[in-house]
Amino acid sequence: MPKLSVRNLDVRGKRVLLRVDFNVPTEERDGRTVITDDTRIRESLPTIALLRERGAKVILMAHFGRPKGAVNLKYTLRPVADHLHSLLGHPVSFSSDVVGKVPEQIIAHMQDGDVALLENVRFHAEEEANEAGFAQALASLGDVYVNDAFGAAHRGHASTAGVSKFIGQSAMGLLMEKELKYLQGELEAPAKPFLVILGGSKVSDKIGVIKSLMEKADVFLIGGAMAYTFFKALGIPTGNSRVEADKVNLAHEILGLAKAKGVRFLLPVDNLETQEISATAQPRATAENGGVTEGWEAVDIGPKTIALYQAEIAAAKTVLWNGPVGIFELAPFANGTQALAEAVAANPGTTIIGGGDSVTAVKKFGLADRMTFISTGGGASLELLEGRTLPGVAALTEV
Ligand code: 3PG
Repeated sequence: MPKLSVRNLDVRGKRVLLRVDFNVPTEERDGRTVITDDTRIRESLPTIALLRERGAKVILMAHFGRPKGAVNLKYTLRPVADHLHSLLGHPVSFSSDVVGKVPEQIIAHMQDGDVALLENVRFHAEEEANEAGFAQALASLGDVYVNDAFGAAHRGHASTAGVSKFIGQSAMGLLMEKELKYLQGELEAPAKPFLVILGGSKVSDKIGVIKSLMEKADVFLIGGAMAYTFFKALGIPTGNSRVEADKVNLAHEILGLAKAKGVRFLLPVDNLETQEISATAQPRATAENGGVTEGWEAVDIGPKTIALYQAEIAAAKTVLWNGPVGIFELAPFANGTQALAEAVAANPGTTIIGGGDSVTAVKKFGLADRMTFISTGGGASLELLEGRTLPGVAALTEV
């Protein structure tokens, strides 16, 4: 069912409780917390701007890390409030409590267009337990609820789902809308050929995605350590590569499914193998179709596979990519992932980067702005691609 959008809300003079995903990577530098990638904060700016322009009082709720239901200032959102202040060019009031007198007083003093951020909702165990009293206390801080936290939409928590039971209207924000458009809408009837690149270390993480996309994709390009579980299933030597021994049967089943459906399921024809995982390692390419040498570990796709995969990518009209095809964090093993990222960037069709490490890789190679869409979700993108209903989406008002 279509969901209510923030675009269609009347918010003038109202208190809008806006759930965002500000779970950003940080680093401690000289005793200060520094945000190392503020993409998620920037991606929430269009919704905040829209609400401010329309005269709402914007009350932001977010989680940060996994403080396990207790106050732990290592996970305070205060540095995020400061960062948001500088991005907005407008003060952001920070409420050191999530519910009760402190936020109530701050909100009572807000003018239309003002912004406040509540402390980490996960400082309360009731958040992850989706406890009704806590959800109600959150709801009492606003007149309407907007969820723009796509990255946390697979969590059925008080601030992502439960709150909607205690408030009149619950709408999706602009980021949520965009994520659903690309990861769901565009993939319902994708322009063909529809190509899926899947990498990462474990087949077990991607089973749901493979099975769901098998219904629509024309070709899969497999890379990363998960490829070697498929090698095992086919009796191709894997050397010391990571193999999920308990998923070999499943890999077999997937290969059979692809065959039955006429989906081309491509595995690397050559690999980069090494005896040492380090930034100074000197890997070598394996022979074509020979698998991985005994005592060596595959860490990237080889040059022949790169050429083959690049040609497939060039011929596709829709590309979805989830998971790097090698250990791209280390320069000697980054070639395959970089070459595929460049090929995807050069594709004039719809190119969707489905979250997680492939997003990190695309950013690292400076290609982010050449993709049609890059998801801000990790687990949430995977669950959506698996065709699952996300609690944070299900809870929104239907139109
Ligand atoms: C994420 O970073 O993927 C989301 O913010 C969800 O965080 P979580 O996995 O701690 O629930």
